[in-house]
Amino acid sequence: MYNEFTYYTPTKVVFGKGTEEKTGALIKEAGAGKALLHYGGGSAARSGLLDRIKKSLADEGIACVELGGVKPNPRLSKVYEGIELGRKEDVDFILAVGGGSVIDSAKAIALGLANPEDDVWSYYIREKTTDRTLPVGSVLTIAAAGSEMSDGSVITKEEENLKRDFGGDFMRPVFAVMNPELTATLPEYQTSCGVADILMHTMERFFNREDNMEITDDLAIALMRDVMAQGRILMKDPSNYEARANVMWAGSLSHNGLTGCGANGGDWATHNMEHEMGGLFDVAHGAGLAAIWGSWARYVHPAAPHRFVKFAQRVLDVDGTGTEEEIIERGIQAMEEFYREIKMPTSMKELGIEPTEEQIRWMAQSCEIKAGGANGAVIPLKKEDMEQIYKMAL
Ligand code: NZQ
Ligand code: ZN
Repeated sequence: MYNEFTYYTPTKVVFGKGTEEKTGALIKEAGAGKALLHYGGGSAARSGLLDRIKKSLADEGIACVELGGVKPNPRLSKVYEGIELGRKEDVDFILAVGGGSVIDSAKAIALGLANPEDDVWSYYIREKTTDRTLPVGSVLTIAAAGSEMSDGSVITKEEENLKRDFGGDFMRPVFAVMNPELTATLPEYQTSCGVADILMHTMERFFNREDNMEITDDLAIALMRDVMAQGRILMKDPSNYEARANVMWAGSLSHNGLTGCGANGGDWATHNMEHEMGGLFDVAHGAGLAAIWGSWARYVHPAAPHRFVKFAQRVLDVDGTGTEEEIIERGIQAMEEFYREIKMPTSMKELGIEPTEEQIRWMAQSCEIKAGGANGAVIPLKKEDMEQIYKMAL
């Protein structure tokens, strides 16, 4: 039983229709005067959101410079561009308009600006560390990564195919503006990737060798059940506001620490293994997670059968007949069935990648180097274990 935890969620959440109009006032409230407005590949411009935000900033007398073009699996080169621009323009706030990729890129730029003496990548590869950053706020356009309230940022150095994270409580954004209506323009695939990622953020915390606190388990179970139910609704009715709103709020709650209180950090091997796939093959994060989770679960469940039984019965309504092993397998199958329902892959082939033996070895080794040893809590996985899991997921 792990009962010790620190729960710190300073991000101010402003949730509901039309809330993006408050962005300028929120930056002013944070004491800033000039923002770097950071966004992605075009969706925010096409929907008119950027114009509304620029107006909101102008109304409050907040100056801004713009940097768009963030790609999914955000690139280090764009981060450097942002640092250079932010320095030249002397900005004191980074405003991310987009999803996890834009927010993570904004967090990295903020780190770079606050630490001019260091190469920002040195933090991501654990060569150096810092606890200084510039304030970041976001207007969220996709429910998925949870970066709007999380303490982390994940960046890809494209030349080396390396996707690495860095984080700390000091990096949690100042505010998150969440208007669920903004997510109605998402392609179905991205909505589903988001649902898969949101589920996984709580699943990573749910699975460990011990028992989590009962209250935390109950919150986690309710969140997972609800996200699955709302995900099913969105497959049929993508413009359903209630479902969009529930999924959006779940995305933040699933990764702000709430569903892991007392869980001793959780497992995270699936995430770490997926990040290697993202670095090497540039796949969408949520889809990558769905593609390997079943293989991870089949490999590690003997070390924590009670958690897998609880997951099967309480989250997926698997009945209690048969052996423990049978209940667990039916639970894993039910989860994979859900992935299929929302058109997510359950293997790397379905994900559209076919890593060679050598690439599998590279990913497993890179994952081990990154962790500085074994990965995960249910079974601390060495590179040989991870190689096996990747192969099972082919
Ligand atoms: O670039 P645009 O044109 O905006 O298109 C994006 C992008 O192609 C599109 N999109 C976003 N909002 C839209 C929209 N399209 C239409 N309408 C809208 N309203 O969706 C695509 C995906 O966007 P992205 O930001 O990449 O998605 P997501 O939020 O899933 O972020 C994924 C990144 O976050 C990292 C992942 O590894 C990945 O790099 N993660 C970050 C975490 C964190 N910082 O705490 C934790 C997560 O576990 C995750 O690792
Ligand atoms: Zn994730």
